[in-house]
Amino acid sequence: MAEETGTEPPVVIKVVNNGPYQVKGPVRLVDHDGGEYELTGRTHLLCRCGHSANKPFCDGAHVRTGFTATRAE
Ligand code: FES
Repeated sequence: MAEETGTEPPVVIKVVNNGPYQVKGPVRLVDHDGGEYELTGRTHLLCRCGHSANKPFCDGAHVRTGFTATRAE
């Protein structure tokens, strides 16, 4: 668990239960082909299930495919 510092870190990544990674930027995302995405301001959802037709972003396919995440012990 991160130590409370009283200030919000510049980037926050939240793992959504059985869903995407929720990223609050600003952040530069580079995909496997070298494509770059400048994520600023609002929240962005990154696919974790592998079924999105709009990778690297989530398009809701995790719901349709019944994606469930396993928890590391
Ligand atoms: S996590 Fe939403 S489509 Fe993959």
